[in-house]
Amino acid sequence: MGKNKIIVSGGLGFIGSHTVVELIQSGFDPIIIDDLSNSELFILDRIKEITGIKPKFYPYDLCDYKKLESVFSENKNVSACIHFAAKKAVGESMEIPLTYYRTNLVSLMNILEIMKNFKVGKFVFSSSATVYGQPIELPVTEESPTQKALSSYGSTKQMAEDILEKVSATKWLQVLSLRYFNPVGAHPSSLIGELPRGIPSNLMPFVTQTAIGIRKELTVYGNNYNTADGTCIRDYIHVVDLAKAHVNACEYLLAGKNISSFETFNIGTGVGNSVLEIIQTFEKVNEIKVPYTIGERRKGDVESIYANCDKANRILRWKAQYTVEEMVKDAWNWEKTYRK
Ligand code: WQD
Repeated sequence: MGKNKIIVSGGLGFIGSHTVVELIQSGFDPIIIDDLSNSELFILDRIKEITGIKPKFYPYDLCDYKKLESVFSENKNVSACIHFAAKKAVGESMEIPLTYYRTNLVSLMNILEIMKNFKVGKFVFSSSATVYGQPIELPVTEESPTQKALSSYGSTKQMAEDILEKVSATKWLQVLSLRYFNPVGAHPSSLIGELPRGIPSNLMPFVTQTAIGIRKELTVYGNNYNTADGTCIRDYIHVVDLAKAHVNACEYLLAGKNISSFETFNIGTGVGNSVLEIIQTFEKVNEIKVPYTIGERRKGDVESIYANCDKANRILRWKAQYTVEEMVKDAWNWEKTYRK
C-alpha cells in the first residue's frame, strides 16, 4: 500500500511546516498548498533537509477555486486535508475585518466544496483557544462554553467551527477541530521556525527579536491582572508537540475511530505561565537579558487561560512532551540561526 496523501493548506507556515515534517517522519505523503503570503519558499528546502523528502508544493491561494480544484484533479486518492491556511493577526483583523472574513471563510468553503466533489471526507481544522474568551473555570475543557469573539480573527475561527459542525452533520465529512493554545518554539534542528512579517504581535517572537537586538525593548502588557505576578497567564505549547497532534489526528480519522462527525480537542500543555515567567525562563535558559518595561493592558487580552488536555490524551493518545525551558531554548536557537 502507498503512503496516505494528506493535503496541507498553509503547509509552509509556522505550524504547517512543522506538521509537514512530522507527517513525513510518520510515513505520510503531504502535499502542500501555500500562497506564500505569510511564509517563505526556502522552508520547502529546509523540510527536505530535515526529512530527506521534498513534498509536492503548489503556490496557490485557496480563495482561487479553479487552482485549488486542479490540485485535487492532479492528486487522486487524497486521504485527508489539514487546513492551516488563514490570516491570523488579531490586531490586523480589527483593521481589515472584511479581508479576514473573506480570506478565512472563502478558503474554507472552497476546500470543503472541492473535497466533497472529489470524495475526500476527512478534515483537520486549525482552531484556537480564542473561541473560549475568558473562561469562567480553569483549566478549560472542550465542554466549557465558547464566548463571542472579541476580534474578527477569533470570529472567523468560531464561524468556521460552526460551518464545519453543520456541514459534517450531513455525513460526508468527518472533522477534528484542534483548538491550539499558544504555539511557540521551533524545530530542534533550528532549520524551520516562526517567521513573523514586520513587528511581531505575539510574545515569543518579540522576546527573541528583543534579545537579538532588533527591538529595543519588550512591553509587558499590564501587570495589574488578578494573577500571582499581575501578568497574564497562557498555555504555551512547543510547535513540534502541536505538529504531532495533527499526525495523531490524521491517524485517528483514517482509522475511522471518531465517534461523531465533528470533534473538538484542546491542544496545549495544561500548564499556565505568566508573561514574566516566560521572560525570566528565557533569560535563565539562554543566559541573555531581555530588556522590558511594563505597559498598559492590551485591548482584548484575557487574563488567564490554560487547557485541560485530557480528551486529546485519552482519545488521540497525544500529550505534549516539551517543557517551557525547551520552548524558549528552541525559539532562541532558531532566531540566532536564522539571523546569521
Ligand atoms: C501572549 C501574552 C500578551 C506581546 C493570540 C491569539 C491566539 C493565537 C496566538 C494565532 C499576552 C503578552 C504579548 C508583547 C506582551 N493565534 N504580550 N507583550 O494573545 O494569547 O493569543 O496569539 O495565531 O488565537 O489570540 O498571544 O503571544 O499575543 O500574547 O506582554 O509584546 O503575552 O498580553 O498576555 P495571545 P500573544
